[in-house]
Amino acid sequence: MGTKSLCLLLASVLVAYYVYTPVPETIEERWKLMLINAGFRSVAHVAEFAEWLGLVHYMEVLMMITSIEYTAPISDENVTVTDTKFNNVPVRLYVPRKQSSELKRAVIYIHGGGWCVGGSAMEPYDLLSRWTANELNAVVISVEYRLAPLHHFPVQFEDVYAVVKFFLQTSILARYGVDPNRVCVSGDSAGGNLAAAVAQQLLDDLEVKAKLKIQALLYPALQTLDLDLPSYKENENKPILPKSLMVRFWSEYFTTDVSLKEAMASNRHVPAESSHLFRFVNWSNLLPEKFKKDHVYASPIYGSSRLGKKYPGFLDPRAAPLLADDTKLFGLPVTYILTCQHDVLRDDGIMYVSRLRKVGIEVIHDHIEDAIHGALMFITSPTDLALGHRVANKYIEWLNMNL
Ligand SMILES: *[C@@H]1O[C@H](CO)[C@@H](O)[C@H](O)[C@H]1NC(C)=O
Ligand SMILES: *[C@@H]1O[C@H](CO)[C@@H](O)[C@H](O)[C@H]1NC(C)=O
Repeated sequence: MGTKSLCLLLASVLVAYYVYTPVPETIEERWKLMLINAGFRSVAHVAEFAEWLGLVHYMEVLMMITSIEYTAPISDENVTVTDTKFNNVPVRLYVPRKQSSELKRAVIYIHGGGWCVGGSAMEPYDLLSRWTANELNAVVISVEYRLAPLHHFPVQFEDVYAVVKFFLQTSILARYGVDPNRVCVSGDSAGGNLAAAVAQQLLDDLEVKAKLKIQALLYPALQTLDLDLPSYKENENKPILPKSLMVRFWSEYFTTDVSLKEAMASNRHVPAESSHLFRFVNWSNLLPEKFKKDHVYASPIYGSSRLGKKYPGFLDPRAAPLLADDTKLFGLPVTYILTCQHDVLRDDGIMYVSRLRKVGIEVIHDHIEDAIHGALMFITSPTDLALGHRVANKYIEWLNMNL
């Protein structure tokens, strides 16, 4: 064998080794997903390296990559699309063209991206909003909240809250011809986190007269306390959202100080003074047997009280809606929760299902056995997956039947 062919062989082995990730057998289009994931991992490596060199912040590299997918607000035959501002917060607005005397439904959509990246203009989010507007003949408001590391909690939450509050005013609903009894707040991943937090906060806001009919939480992040749940353990290295990235997103939501990230990575970030909060995320009580499997519940290990004092955000229900007391959950709207089996955030969603059902909230739980985190991102060519389309259809169909 010549040197050239030996090199070629070696190179192919290295590429195959790099591309190969343990994608569960049950997931369709495994190799396509592995390739997509290899792309994500390469971006992560570039970001790490650039940050290590001191050139840019890790998230800036991720942001540059996601911005490639940005689209202009282009209207089509069915929907008028504009970029505007609600309460000084940018939003992308989708208004159906179809004339009718009936009042319309409305969906306030909050995109994912770990509070650090992403945007309503990204192609998959733009498409999802169009489909929703089209299928439901609904007004869709996609919120362009400010992101970390430039802005930390509670800025993201407050931006979204400001938009929701603005839109729920009687005069604004009337301006868009929206039925005040048929408004939904909806979001995926970090957007599901913000949607859940906003829905809780609205319950205490006496200034808001209209009530949400539905909250739809798509593989949401809901708690910061226990980053060692069975789903974190089982899916630590699954495609798109490895545990290390989720830890980075969580910590970056509150601060760029690496000491929080390091404490979170070893799950020793919660101060003993906050031990009472652990009952809200006790998976040993809140997960059905099927998800507990042979995992053994271990008591929490506490961290220094310094972190909790410096960054109280990570103990705040506006950042971690699972930390809300039961009395704060009464009155929440009908809730749709979608969880994916191969996702570090799976158990966050499932525990919220249990908590909400316990206090009598109507919850529809769609658990997708063969899905990964971020499935909804894969609906545009060339990175589209049958899975993405299936999950998007499931969600939009449910919304259409229930909003
Ligand atoms: C507009 O709506 C019609 C009917 O639902 C659909 O067939 C068509 O594809 C839509 N156009 C766009 C650009 O989405
Ligand atoms: C979690 O639940 C288990 C089993 O019910 C219980 O033994 C444990 O004390 C609980 N831990 C916390 C911190 O609530």
